[in-house]
Amino acid sequence: MDLEQYLRALPKTELHLHIEGTLEPELMFALAARNRVALPWRSVEETRAAYAFDDLQSFLDLYYAGAAALLHEQDFFDLAMAYFVRAHADGVVHAELFFDPQTHTARGVAFATVLDGLERACREAHARYGISSRLILCFLRHLSEEDGFATLEQALPHLARIHGVGLDSSERGHPPSKFVRLFARCRELGLHCVAHAGEEGPPAYIVEALDLLKVERIDHGVRAAEDPALLERLAREQVPLTVCPLSNVKLRVFPALQQHNLKILLDAGLKVTINSDDPAYFGGYVLENYRQTAEALQLSRAELRRLARNSLEAAFVGDAERAPWL
Ligand code: HPA
Ligand code: ZN
Repeated sequence: MDLEQYLRALPKTELHLHIEGTLEPELMFALAARNRVALPWRSVEETRAAYAFDDLQSFLDLYYAGAAALLHEQDFFDLAMAYFVRAHADGVVHAELFFDPQTHTARGVAFATVLDGLERACREAHARYGISSRLILCFLRHLSEEDGFATLEQALPHLARIHGVGLDSSERGHPPSKFVRLFARCRELGLHCVAHAGEEGPPAYIVEALDLLKVERIDHGVRAAEDPALLERLAREQVPLTVCPLSNVKLRVFPALQQHNLKILLDAGLKVTINSDDPAYFGGYVLENYRQTAEALQLSRAELRRLARNSLEAAFVGDAERAPWL
Protein backbone atom coordinates (compact mmCIF):
# COMPACT_ATOMS: atom_id res chain seq x y z
CA MET A 1 0.00 0.00 0.00
CA ASP A 2 1.44 3.40 -0.82
CA LEU A 3 2.11 5.92 1.92
CA GLU A 4 -0.91 8.11 1.22
CA GLN A 5 -3.36 5.19 1.17
CA TYR A 6 -1.79 3.85 4.36
CA LEU A 7 -2.13 7.20 6.13
CA ARG A 8 -5.68 7.74 4.94
CA ALA A 9 -6.75 4.37 6.33
CA LEU A 10 -5.26 5.07 9.78
CA PRO A 11 -8.05 6.18 12.14
CA LYS A 12 -7.04 9.60 13.40
CA THR A 13 -8.42 12.65 15.11
CA GLU A 14 -7.64 16.28 14.48
CA LEU A 15 -7.15 18.25 17.70
CA HIS A 16 -5.62 21.53 16.52
CA LEU A 17 -7.74 23.07 13.83
CA HIS A 18 -8.95 26.66 13.73
CA ILE A 19 -12.20 26.56 11.80
CA GLU A 20 -11.63 30.12 10.56
CA GLY A 21 -8.32 28.82 9.21
CA THR A 22 -10.15 26.44 6.86
CA LEU A 23 -11.66 29.33 4.89
CA GLU A 24 -10.40 28.66 1.35
CA PRO A 25 -10.16 31.77 -0.88
CA GLU A 26 -12.92 30.40 -3.18
CA LEU A 27 -15.41 30.22 -0.30
CA MET A 28 -14.11 33.54 1.10
CA PHE A 29 -14.97 35.26 -2.19
CA ALA A 30 -18.33 33.50 -2.52
CA LEU A 31 -19.31 34.58 1.00
CA ALA A 32 -17.99 38.12 0.50
CA ALA A 33 -20.15 38.43 -2.65
CA ARG A 34 -23.19 36.92 -0.90
CA ASN A 35 -22.75 39.28 2.06
CA ARG A 36 -21.56 42.33 0.09
CA VAL A 37 -18.41 42.53 2.19
CA ALA A 38 -15.25 44.12 0.76
CA LEU A 39 -12.03 42.07 0.96
CA PRO A 40 -8.51 43.49 0.76
CA TRP A 41 -7.76 41.32 -2.32
CA ARG A 42 -9.22 41.48 -5.85
CA SER A 43 -9.27 37.79 -6.69
CA VAL A 44 -8.80 34.27 -5.40
CA GLU A 45 -5.38 34.18 -7.10
CA GLU A 46 -4.29 37.47 -5.53
CA THR A 47 -5.41 36.17 -2.14
CA ARG A 48 -3.39 32.94 -2.44
CA ALA A 49 -0.40 34.95 -3.65
CA ALA A 50 -0.58 37.00 -0.44
CA TYR A 51 -0.10 33.84 1.67
CA ALA A 52 3.65 34.25 2.16
CA PHE A 53 4.29 34.80 5.83
CA ASP A 54 7.29 36.02 7.83
CA ASP A 55 5.97 34.99 11.22
CA LEU A 56 2.79 34.35 13.22
CA GLN A 57 1.67 37.99 13.25
CA SER A 58 1.95 38.42 9.47
CA PHE A 59 -0.36 35.40 9.11
CA LEU A 60 -2.81 36.58 11.77
CA ASP A 61 -3.26 39.94 10.02
CA LEU A 62 -4.51 38.15 6.88
CA TYR A 63 -6.46 35.52 8.78
CA TYR A 64 -8.50 38.14 10.63
CA ALA A 65 -9.04 40.08 7.37
CA GLY A 66 -10.41 36.96 5.62
CA ALA A 67 -12.76 36.17 8.50
CA ALA A 68 -14.64 39.40 7.70
CA ALA A 69 -16.52 37.48 4.98
CA LEU A 70 -18.30 35.42 7.66
CA LEU A 71 -21.52 37.02 8.86
CA HIS A 72 -24.49 34.67 9.01
CA GLU A 73 -25.30 31.31 10.56
CA GLN A 74 -25.27 29.74 7.09
CA ASP A 75 -21.74 31.09 6.48
CA PHE A 76 -20.41 29.35 9.58
CA PHE A 77 -22.27 26.18 8.58
CA ASP A 78 -20.79 26.29 5.05
CA LEU A 79 -17.32 26.92 6.44
CA ALA A 80 -17.41 23.99 8.85
CA MET A 81 -19.13 21.65 6.39
CA ALA A 82 -16.39 22.28 3.81
CA TYR A 83 -13.87 21.29 6.49
CA PHE A 84 -15.72 18.10 7.40
CA VAL A 85 -15.87 17.01 3.74
CA ARG A 86 -12.07 17.25 3.60
CA ALA A 87 -11.53 15.70 7.03
CA HIS A 88 -13.68 12.73 6.07
CA ALA A 89 -11.71 12.29 2.84
CA ASP A 90 -8.51 12.30 4.96
CA GLY A 91 -9.73 9.52 7.27
CA VAL A 92 -10.43 11.73 10.29
CA VAL A 93 -12.84 9.99 12.68
CA HIS A 94 -13.12 12.82 15.20
CA ALA A 95 -12.30 16.54 15.12
CA GLU A 96 -12.04 19.16 17.86
CA LEU A 97 -12.64 22.54 16.26
CA PHE A 98 -11.26 25.77 17.65
CA PHE A 99 -13.32 28.86 17.03
CA ASP A 100 -12.50 32.50 17.81
CA PRO A 101 -15.75 34.22 18.87
CA GLN A 102 -14.04 37.54 19.59
CA THR A 103 -13.05 37.84 15.91
CA HIS A 104 -16.75 37.82 15.06
CA THR A 105 -18.46 39.52 17.99
CA ALA A 106 -16.10 42.51 17.53
CA ARG A 107 -17.67 42.91 14.04
CA GLY A 108 -21.22 42.75 15.38
CA VAL A 109 -21.86 39.05 14.69
CA ALA A 110 -23.76 37.48 17.59
CA PHE A 111 -22.05 34.74 19.57
CA ALA A 112 -25.05 32.45 18.98
CA THR A 113 -24.86 32.97 15.19
CA VAL A 114 -21.31 31.60 15.15
CA LEU A 115 -22.09 28.71 17.46
CA ASP A 116 -25.39 27.74 15.80
CA GLY A 117 -23.79 27.48 12.36
CA LEU A 118 -20.78 25.50 13.57
CA GLU A 119 -22.87 23.18 15.67
CA ARG A 120 -25.33 22.47 12.87
CA ALA A 121 -22.37 21.45 10.70
CA CYS A 122 -21.07 19.19 13.48
CA ARG A 123 -24.43 17.41 13.61
CA GLU A 124 -24.65 17.16 9.82
CA ALA A 125 -21.09 15.75 9.62
CA HIS A 126 -21.99 13.10 12.16
CA ALA A 127 -25.14 12.16 10.27
CA ARG A 128 -23.42 12.12 6.87
CA TYR A 129 -19.98 10.71 7.68
CA GLY A 130 -20.11 9.39 11.24
CA ILE A 131 -17.45 11.96 12.27
CA SER A 132 -17.77 13.01 15.89
CA SER A 133 -16.66 16.46 16.95
CA ARG A 134 -16.27 18.97 19.75
CA LEU A 135 -16.17 22.77 19.80
CA ILE A 136 -13.41 24.55 21.71
CA LEU A 137 -13.76 28.29 22.28
CA CYS A 138 -10.42 30.07 21.93
CA PHE A 139 -9.72 33.33 23.70
CA LEU A 140 -7.59 35.81 21.76
CA ARG A 141 -4.53 36.41 23.89
CA HIS A 142 -3.70 39.82 22.36
CA LEU A 143 -6.92 41.07 23.98
CA SER A 144 -7.35 41.56 27.71
CA GLU A 145 -8.42 39.00 30.30
CA GLU A 146 -11.44 41.23 30.91
CA ASP A 147 -12.45 40.87 27.25
CA GLY A 148 -12.06 37.11 27.69
CA PHE A 149 -14.39 37.20 30.71
CA ALA A 150 -16.97 39.13 28.65
CA THR A 151 -16.76 36.43 25.97
CA LEU A 152 -17.16 33.70 28.57
CA GLU A 153 -20.26 35.51 29.81
CA GLN A 154 -21.73 35.31 26.29
CA ALA A 155 -20.87 31.62 26.15
CA LEU A 156 -22.57 30.73 29.45
CA PRO A 157 -26.05 30.01 27.99
CA HIS A 158 -24.40 27.66 25.47
CA LEU A 159 -22.00 25.65 27.61
CA ALA A 160 -23.78 22.38 26.79
CA ARG A 161 -22.47 22.86 23.24
CA ILE A 162 -18.95 24.01 24.14
CA HIS A 163 -16.52 21.38 25.33
CA GLY A 164 -13.46 23.36 26.22
CA VAL A 165 -11.47 26.56 25.95
CA GLY A 166 -8.14 27.42 24.37
CA LEU A 167 -5.81 30.38 23.97
CA ASP A 168 -4.59 31.58 20.58
CA SER A 169 -3.44 34.60 18.55
CA SER A 170 -0.19 36.57 19.06
CA GLU A 171 1.91 34.62 21.53
CA ARG A 172 4.96 36.77 22.28
CA GLY A 173 4.26 39.32 24.99
CA HIS A 174 0.99 37.60 25.92
CA PRO A 175 2.00 34.83 28.33
CA PRO A 176 -0.46 32.34 29.81
CA SER A 177 -0.06 34.12 33.17
CA LYS A 178 -2.21 36.94 31.74
CA PHE A 179 -5.24 34.59 31.84
CA VAL A 180 -4.95 32.77 35.17
CA ARG A 181 -8.30 33.94 36.58
CA LEU A 182 -10.17 33.31 33.34
CA PHE A 183 -8.93 29.73 33.04
CA ALA A 184 -9.63 29.08 36.75
CA ARG A 185 -13.23 30.09 36.10
CA CYS A 186 -13.42 27.89 33.00
CA ARG A 187 -12.15 24.90 34.99
CA GLU A 188 -14.79 25.57 37.67
CA LEU A 189 -17.37 25.45 34.88
CA GLY A 190 -16.12 21.99 33.92
CA LEU A 191 -14.57 23.03 30.61
CA HIS A 192 -11.52 21.24 29.22
CA CYS A 193 -8.54 23.60 28.94
CA VAL A 194 -5.82 23.80 26.29
CA ALA A 195 -3.49 26.62 25.21
CA HIS A 196 -1.14 27.50 22.39
CA ALA A 197 2.33 27.69 23.93
CA GLY A 198 5.87 27.30 22.66
CA GLU A 199 5.06 28.02 19.02
CA GLU A 200 6.90 31.37 18.89
CA GLY A 201 6.94 31.92 22.64
CA PRO A 202 9.63 30.51 24.94
CA PRO A 203 9.49 27.16 26.78
CA ALA A 204 8.57 29.11 29.95
CA TYR A 205 5.13 29.77 28.39
CA ILE A 206 4.58 26.00 28.19
CA VAL A 207 5.43 25.69 31.88
CA GLU A 208 3.02 28.54 32.68
CA ALA A 209 0.24 26.94 30.63
CA LEU A 210 0.66 23.71 32.59
CA ASP A 211 1.18 25.15 36.07
CA LEU A 212 -0.97 28.30 35.97
CA LEU A 213 -3.72 27.47 33.48
CA LYS A 214 -3.61 23.72 34.22
CA VAL A 215 -4.17 22.82 30.60
CA GLU A 216 -4.60 19.21 29.53
CA ARG A 217 -2.89 19.57 26.15
CA ILE A 218 -0.36 22.01 24.69
CA ASP A 219 -1.02 23.37 21.20
CA HIS A 220 2.27 23.41 19.24
CA GLY A 221 4.77 23.14 22.14
CA VAL A 222 7.68 22.55 19.78
CA ARG A 223 9.98 24.97 21.61
CA ALA A 224 9.90 22.58 24.58
CA ALA A 225 12.91 21.00 22.92
CA GLU A 226 15.01 23.94 24.16
CA ASP A 227 14.48 22.95 27.80
CA PRO A 228 15.62 19.41 28.75
CA ALA A 229 13.82 19.46 32.11
CA LEU A 230 10.56 20.43 30.41
CA LEU A 231 11.00 17.73 27.78
CA GLU A 232 11.44 15.16 30.51
CA ARG A 233 8.34 16.44 32.30
CA LEU A 234 6.18 16.39 29.16
CA ALA A 235 7.28 12.80 28.52
CA ARG A 236 6.70 11.71 32.13
CA GLU A 237 3.26 13.32 32.34
CA GLN A 238 2.36 12.29 28.78
CA VAL A 239 0.98 15.75 28.04
CA PRO A 240 -0.29 15.66 24.46
CA LEU A 241 1.33 18.17 22.06
CA THR A 242 -0.80 19.12 19.06
CA VAL A 243 1.98 19.76 16.57
CA CYS A 244 1.28 21.35 13.17
CA PRO A 245 4.27 20.73 10.88
CA LEU A 246 3.21 22.61 7.73
CA SER A 247 2.09 25.57 9.84
CA ASN A 248 5.47 25.65 11.57
CA VAL A 249 7.27 25.85 8.23
CA LYS A 250 4.91 28.50 6.78
CA LEU A 251 5.28 30.67 9.89
CA ARG A 252 9.05 30.08 9.93
CA VAL A 253 9.25 28.32 13.26
CA PHE A 254 11.47 25.88 11.30
CA PRO A 255 13.23 26.76 8.03
CA ALA A 256 12.05 23.55 6.32
CA LEU A 257 10.15 20.37 7.16
CA GLN A 258 13.44 18.43 7.14
CA GLN A 259 14.52 20.56 10.12
CA HIS A 260 11.29 20.05 12.09
CA ASN A 261 11.85 18.57 15.56
CA LEU A 262 8.77 16.30 15.57
CA LYS A 263 10.85 13.14 15.46
CA ILE A 264 13.10 14.41 18.24
CA LEU A 265 10.01 14.99 20.41
CA LEU A 266 8.63 11.57 19.50
CA ASP A 267 11.97 9.87 20.26
CA ALA A 268 12.03 11.67 23.63
CA GLY A 269 8.79 9.85 24.49
CA LEU A 270 6.38 12.79 24.19
CA LYS A 271 2.75 12.26 23.22
CA VAL A 272 2.99 14.02 19.87
CA THR A 273 0.07 14.40 17.46
CA ILE A 274 -0.07 15.80 13.90
CA ASN A 275 -2.62 18.47 12.98
CA SER A 276 -3.22 21.09 10.30
CA ASP A 277 -3.82 24.32 12.31
CA ASP A 278 -5.07 26.63 9.49
CA PRO A 279 -4.98 24.39 6.42
CA ALA A 280 -6.42 26.92 3.94
CA TYR A 281 -3.44 29.18 4.70
CA PHE A 282 -0.65 26.67 5.28
CA GLY A 283 -0.86 24.44 2.24
CA GLY A 284 -2.39 21.21 3.44
CA TYR A 285 -5.03 19.40 5.46
CA VAL A 286 -4.18 16.80 8.05
CA LEU A 287 -3.37 13.94 5.67
CA GLU A 288 -0.97 16.19 3.79
CA ASN A 289 0.67 17.11 7.11
CA TYR A 290 1.20 13.41 7.88
CA ARG A 291 2.41 12.62 4.36
CA GLN A 292 4.90 15.44 3.99
CA THR A 293 6.22 14.99 7.54
CA ALA A 294 6.59 11.23 7.02
CA GLU A 295 8.65 11.84 3.90
CA ALA A 296 10.73 14.73 5.22
CA LEU A 297 11.61 13.00 8.49
CA GLN A 298 11.56 9.44 7.12
CA LEU A 299 9.09 8.26 9.73
CA SER A 300 8.47 4.52 9.92
CA ARG A 301 4.99 3.05 9.71
CA ALA A 302 5.25 2.18 13.42
CA GLU A 303 5.95 5.87 14.14
CA LEU A 304 3.02 6.94 11.98
CA ARG A 305 0.73 4.48 13.77
CA ARG A 306 1.97 5.90 17.09
CA LEU A 307 1.19 9.47 15.99
CA ALA A 308 -2.33 8.53 14.88
CA ARG A 309 -2.95 6.51 18.02
CA ASN A 310 -1.73 9.42 20.16
CA SER A 311 -4.38 11.56 18.49
CA LEU A 312 -7.08 9.04 19.43
CA GLU A 313 -5.85 8.85 23.01
CA ALA A 314 -5.55 12.64 23.42
CA ALA A 315 -9.11 13.41 22.26
CA PHE A 316 -11.60 14.74 24.79
CA VAL A 317 -13.92 11.74 24.55
CA GLY A 318 -14.91 9.00 26.95
CA ASP A 319 -13.66 5.42 26.73
CA ALA A 320 -16.89 4.17 25.14
CA GLU A 321 -16.61 6.68 22.30
CA ARG A 322 -12.91 5.94 21.82
CA ALA A 323 -13.13 2.16 21.91
CA PRO A 324 -14.25 1.58 18.29
CA TRP A 325 -11.25 3.56 16.97
CA LEU A 326 -8.59 1.56 18.82
N1 HPA B 1 -1.12 30.34 16.54
C1 HPA B 1 -1.75 31.27 17.24
N2 HPA B 1 -2.96 31.70 16.93
C2 HPA B 1 -3.58 31.18 15.87
C3 HPA B 1 -2.96 30.21 15.11
C4 HPA B 1 -1.67 29.76 15.46
O1 HPA B 1 -1.03 28.88 14.84
N3 HPA B 1 -3.84 29.92 14.13
C5 HPA B 1 -4.95 30.67 14.32
N4 HPA B 1 -4.79 31.44 15.38
ZN1 ZN C 1 -3.21 27.06 16.18
